[in-house]
Amino acid sequence: MSEQTSPSKSWMLSNDEATQSVGRALAKVLRPGDFVGLVGTLGAGKTCLTRGLMAALLDGSDFEAQVTSPTYTLLNIYDAPYPIEAVLHADLYRLEDVDDLVSTGYWDALEQTGVAVVEWIDQIPEAWPGDGFVVTLEHAPEGRKLTINWQGAGGGAARLGPLYDALDNALASA
Ligand SMILES: Nc1ncnc2c1ncn2[C@@H]1O[C@H](COP(=O)(O)OP(=O)(O)O)[C@@H](O)[C@H]1O
Ligand SMILES: [Mg+2]
Repeated sequence: MSEQTSPSKSWMLSNDEATQSVGRALAKVLRPGDFVGLVGTLGAGKTCLTRGLMAALLDGSDFEAQVTSPTYTLLNIYDAPYPIEAVLHADLYRLEDVDDLVSTGYWDALEQTGVAVVEWIDQIPEAWPGDGFVVTLEHAPEGRKLTINWQGAGGGAARLGPLYDALDNALASA
């Protein structure tokens, strides 16, 4: 995870809806091939943010209701409209090491999907694909503290500016 090019900026998320709105804002800047790694302890809001992201990526279908934490199933793959076509949602919490990752078919799933969203990406360093967005959620007295950065090479860092503006707007009224 070298070459962290982004400035550090954080936002307070005062409720569940604010956390979902981050997912929606992030969905707008995602492109086929993107990876989103979510970092944060149990209950930090990773699945909540993923629900907002998926609802937007899957074009407002009933998806919000359908996305459950994949903690027990490990990998879920959902159909998405062109050009993303398929989205992987994974949760590495229960995995102990890279051998577990191999047995789930994680890398095949990454290849077959246009966008991947992976909770507990810090649990298994080998699961990090080389570049992508890293979303960190922390418990805070006011709710949750959010940071989003781009790590690695690739052009993603250039999308942080528009994303940060969108977050400023989306969260201003929250
Ligand atoms: N900004 C927030 N402030 C307060 N509670 C939140 C916020 N975002 C999410 N939550 C709540 O935190 C709980 C855990 O969220 P969840 O997404 O399941 O966490 P994780 O996937 O990180 O374990 C849920 O009840 C969710 O509604
Ligand atoms: Mg979760």
